[in-house]
Amino acid sequence: MTQSVKTKAAGHACSSINRRNFLILGGASITVLASYGTGGEAQELVSSGYTRKVIGKVSDLEPGRAIAFSYPNDDIENLLMMLTEEAGGGVGEARNIVAFNTICPHMGGYMGESEFRSEHSVLGPCPLHLSTFDLTKHGMIVSGHAVESLPQIVLEIDGDDIVATGVMGLFYGYSHNPTGA
Ligand code: FES
Repeated sequence: MTQSVKTKAAGHACSSINRRNFLILGGASITVLASYGTGGEAQELVSSGYTRKVIGKVSDLEPGRAIAFSYPNDDIENLLMMLTEEAGGGVGEARNIVAFNTICPHMGGYMGESEFRSEHSVLGPCPLHLSTFDLTKHGMIVSGHAVESLPQIVLEIDGDDIVATGVMGLFYGYSHNPTGA
């Protein structure tokens, strides 16, 4: 038996939502599912509302390589990257596979594969005003004019598949992130 409850207030949705999940859920509607196992025990599951999408293969990556993909819809471009060191939010055996949006949160400068500096695990400098973002620390600004972190795509590993499941941070130019749902 499964019950579904929708709420607009993340803080009321579930007392077990930690800070990381709260950030992931920001901007998206929240669905709390109370399900009951075979023993009748209640379990709480939280869904961010973002679509799940396979965005690449672990076997296609190598340290220092970046691959462009769209998520959560076809209009939003991101980079999937394998770093040479462990990263916050990194997945895979070495926790070094990460994904970030390509649009600078300062004024919308585009940062593509040529701005990925694998030797320093950063994206940037942005071609407009030189902001640079640390890919090991959830896209935190390390230099330049931006005051917000680069939005990070939340990833999971499923066998050889790399699956995008959500977004931490707000995409530049949006008042709410599209969820792709
Ligand atoms: S738009 Fe990227 S630093 Fe200004």
